[in-house]
Amino acid sequence: MIDRSDRLADPNESVEERDLEVTLRPKRFAEFVGQRVAKEQLQIFVQAAKNRGDTLDHVLIAGPPGLGKTTLAGIIANELGVGMHTTSGPALERKVDVAGVLTNLQEGDVLFVDEIHRLNAAVEEVLYPAMEDFEIDIMIGEGPSARSIRMAVPPFTLIGATTRTGLLTTPLRDRFGVWQRLEYYEPDELTAIVRRSAGILGVTIDDPAVVEIAGRARGTPRVANRLLRRVRDFAEVRHEGHVSPEICIAALELFQVDHEGLDKLDRDILAAIAEKFDGGPVGLDTLAVALGEEGDTLQDVYEPYLIMRGFLKRTSRGRVLTRSGFRHCGLEVPSSASDTLFD
Ligand SMILES: Nc1ncnc2c1ncn2[C@@H]1O[C@H](COP(=O)(O)OP(=O)(O)O)[C@@H](O)[C@H]1O
Ligand SMILES: [Mg+2]
Repeated sequence: MIDRSDRLADPNESVEERDLEVTLRPKRFAEFVGQRVAKEQLQIFVQAAKNRGDTLDHVLIAGPPGLGKTTLAGIIANELGVGMHTTSGPALERKVDVAGVLTNLQEGDVLFVDEIHRLNAAVEEVLYPAMEDFEIDIMIGEGPSARSIRMAVPPFTLIGATTRTGLLTTPLRDRFGVWQRLEYYEPDELTAIVRRSAGILGVTIDDPAVVEIAGRARGTPRVANRLLRRVRDFAEVRHEGHVSPEICIAALELFQVDHEGLDKLDRDILAAIAEKFDGGPVGLDTLAVALGEEGDTLQDVYEPYLIMRGFLKRTSRGRVLTRSGFRHCGLEVPSSASDTLFD
């Protein structure tokens, strides 16, 4: 099963690089940069649960890929001093999969379910009593003599991560006591993240180069770290390793990351709407076919940033390019093009 939350990861990324991502992952709240409100609230809930000797309430973390959902789940488990078990919506296919996972937990453990919006209905049903009363119903026997018995599971904290809260069913959503939505990061926060990562990776880099990478990172720590690693490769092969601003800019140009941080597919999306569909509106599926991409990937991975930057907007009739979108493509702005996200 494809893990869409990792789509912003480089398709050429090796296992070694995945390990690097783990190395760069903050382990404590103190190392976690930005998301001030979410972080402060979570710190309080974690501390309160610890003080009472209670299990932390279930937590739902939403936001586009690469903003730190998995990282935060790990930090919460760490700060609580409990174990973390990781699984995902698509991996929990059958009721017995869930029962297996739940009965293997230690009291107080964190169960991290990535892409929780992709759980199927049968599996969700097993989760409801588990989340609410720490009990599950299991079927014993087969055929007419089959019966269901209730079984206790250890109290646990479910942390769900999702790129799309809109796809969660209401009963599931209602069973989370804590909701957090992660936002795109500010440039100075990304600067701090790039500086920290360069330190861990032992990359020598001039400050303006750090700022340059941060500015082109699509507001996303995973992208910031990836750009840093690519720029480092370039500097090592062409320039003995040190990352100066000139080398950094040359590398980013070679990798086709523009000054707004858009990559080739981002620009292809904008250009397709402008040129093939007269600026829109165009339906998601039609656009996906035109680009040879999956609709889900466009919607979860690419669009949120383009919309946040005001290049694109979603309307009831489809996707529409804004004036800034036309300008970014270097095209003349038609008089019919709209100005803001809201008209
Ligand atoms: N607030 C942060 N501070 C520092 N690094 C971060 C932060 N959030 C994310 N990262 C880095 O970005 C990478 C991607 O984060 P991750 O938690 O996997 O994102 P998500 O699960 O939301 O897709 C991690 O390896 C981590 O190094
Ligand atoms: Mg993740």
